[in-house]
Amino acid sequence: MGLRQRVRDALRSARGGWISGQQLGAALGVSRAAVSKHVKALQQEGYRIESATRKGYRLRKDDDPVSAVLLREALRTRALGQVSISYRVRTGSTNDDAKHAASQGAPHGSVFLADTQTAGRGRLGRSWISPPGVGVYISVILQPDLALGDVPLVSIAAALATAEAVREQTTLPVRIKWPNDVLLCDKKVAGVLTEMSADMDRVEYVVVGVGINVNTPSSALPADRLIYPASSLMVEAGERACRVAVVAKWLERLEHWVDCLVAQGGDPLVRAWQEASGSVGQQVCVSTAKETVEGRIVGLGEGGALTLKLADGSVRSILSGDLTPD
Ligand code: BTN
Repeated sequence: MGLRQRVRDALRSARGGWISGQQLGAALGVSRAAVSKHVKALQQEGYRIESATRKGYRLRKDDDPVSAVLLREALRTRALGQVSISYRVRTGSTNDDAKHAASQGAPHGSVFLADTQTAGRGRLGRSWISPPGVGVYISVILQPDLALGDVPLVSIAAALATAEAVREQTTLPVRIKWPNDVLLCDKKVAGVLTEMSADMDRVEYVVVGVGINVNTPSSALPADRLIYPASSLMVEAGERACRVAVVAKWLERLEHWVDCLVAQGGDPLVRAWQEASGSVGQQVCVSTAKETVEGRIVGLGEGGALTLKLADGSVRSILSGDLTPD
């Protein structure tokens, strides 16, 4: 075992207590400077190690690190995250990081991960509150062989993957609210932001980002969503989940659904989405940029559009908007 892992294990065995650099150095047979160097590297990897003069170091009890090293160990994918995983303790937005890298030629499957975002973005110009140490904030560059009209189905793939990653952590009811919010016990715990760059007939790249409130305490959750209030896995289930396990599962399932979309088209995703949303037949109200439409959900149509049957019997397809139950 390398020195870094031994420093980490010594801090873990102290169970949240302080150990001085001198004690750590003596226990591991190295200098205090060597300890300090490895503590810095562990902090960069995502471990929540605090340091204080005269006290030394301690690993926070709620430590649940996310890092490139840990994700690589947990990852069971063929392509996603296999070429590059960029981890930052703090960034503006992982979607922005991914888009910037994609414009510089970063390849399919490049992953961008952060412990906290200072300018996390949501759909429809909203922000995504991204406190450190508790949530998952990840974006991935995809260059799927897809027609432009099928790109919205990548969001559906990401929503399915998110619901599956959440479902793996809990037996509580998980469902998808159109287009790609994930609700746990009818509260929003995750959302997907898909952005793309394309020319007239070719998709250059798609960036899919997901934010998942994993161990977020209620005090750090946004309080402004009235119909589906924000929540987290921890708040709903009453126990902490492992963020790296959630991220690894999300990438694995995203790869599955994107591969499925490219190989078989949208039908399997649409069927899975309809099942996971449980919303077919529901009477809803959808606000788009131009209008508000009321109707009963028929399902997902071409390119992932929501198909509604209106009171006058006509059928309307909506590609983007905000849905509320009637
Ligand atoms: C929404 O429900 O409005 C979508 C939220 C998407 C948030 C994620 S967090 C990782 C990635 N980076 C961002 O700035 N946004 C997405």
